[in-house]
Amino acid sequence: MSSSTQIPKTQKAWVAVRRGKPSDALICDENAKVPSNLEPGEILVKVQAAALNPVGYKLMGLLPNLFAKRPHVVEHDFTGLVVDANGTELQNGDAVYGIIPVPLNLQSHQGALAQYIRLPASHVVPRPSELKPTEAAGLTLVGLTAYQALFDVAKLEQGQHLFINGGSTAVGISAIQLAKAIGCTVTVSASGKREPLLRSLGADHFIDYTKGPVHEQLSHDPPSPKFHVIFETVGATDVDLYTHSEKYLAPGGIFVSVGIHPHGISGFGQALRYIWELTRPSFLGGTKRTWKWFSLSFKRENFENFAQYVIDGKVKPVVDSVYSYEDVLKAYERIMSLRAAGKVVVKVDPSVD
Ligand SMILES: NC(=O)c1ccc[n+]([C@@H]2O[C@H](COP(=O)([O-])OP(=O)(O)OC[C@H]3O[C@@H](n4cnc5c(N)ncnc54)[C@H](OP(=O)(O)O)[C@@H]3O)[C@@H](O)[C@H]2O)c1
Repeated sequence: MSSSTQIPKTQKAWVAVRRGKPSDALICDENAKVPSNLEPGEILVKVQAAALNPVGYKLMGLLPNLFAKRPHVVEHDFTGLVVDANGTELQNGDAVYGIIPVPLNLQSHQGALAQYIRLPASHVVPRPSELKPTEAAGLTLVGLTAYQALFDVAKLEQGQHLFINGGSTAVGISAIQLAKAIGCTVTVSASGKREPLLRSLGADHFIDYTKGPVHEQLSHDPPSPKFHVIFETVGATDVDLYTHSEKYLAPGGIFVSVGIHPHGISGFGQALRYIWELTRPSFLGGTKRTWKWFSLSFKRENFENFAQYVIDGKVKPVVDSVYSYEDVLKAYERIMSLRAAGKVVVKVDPSVD
């Protein structure tokens, strides 16, 4: 493809212009500049589809302008076609999927909800031909989160038993598949209607959180042997899951949490209790299990390893819903409902599947 003649000067991009909920914070800039003057190692991608992540609306709602450096294009996950390979190992026309991690988004102002994005070639991998753009768009952020949390932080190994609190979160869906791929037993929690989906992805045991607090269900009927790893993917909904974990998490086991969801902590008192329970030393009655906070940090090596699971068909995309580029605000409503099972995807190019 000879790219230079086909790349327009302006594009439509969804830009955060102020702090607030998406309907207040975002505008669709129909005259945004298409990035030019690529640095060595950077490429230009024509975006076909993008996917939303909770971090997108969390940053929009929480981060003051001083740190967010608005205006900037929003979101992190995408798939598309390379239109300027800029001397890298990629070729114009290559189909890729990838990520603009949060620090890069804030520094470069590039985001996935644009028609063209400039980013380092290291942040994309080839898209397998079997995957449609709407399937590949949302693989990366949640896939790398699950990969790093399970393998780098928790050191999950073949034959171990993993509990995923929030099996139907997009992070949980990736985690189930990665853990099954290395031969683990996986127990998940979700609401009852998710059981068929999560079993189809490989979950061995299912806990319906709507039937009672998960820590009570696990304490009443603990696994034998106990879990080696607990992966909390909902976001601080239940500190009791940690404080009771000696009953169902093996000594030496690790409790990894993806962080705090704005809905997860209601009020100052609950926040204080959370902090106290996570920091209380065992001689003051604290829980004798390791708790770790996890935050994704992009590493090319992890991305290549994760992408191999996708190529091998061991991690398959699960798409909750697909929205048009004009309907981005409806897509945000869907992900903010906390009811999506899989990725909420936006078709940036209306002609793709
Ligand atoms: N630290 C990091 O680097 C990092 C990276 C990625 C994500 N995260 C965080 O991880 C969390 C999950 O992200 P995501 O994109 O995977 O979320 P998501 O896909 O939007 O999560 C929606 C799912 O959550 C489930 N859910 C809601 N409440 C639940 C509960 N109490 N117990 C079990 N499941 C529940 C829902 O299932 P039901 O309909 O069955 O309730 C729904 O399927 C977010 O807080 C996100 O910010 C952190």
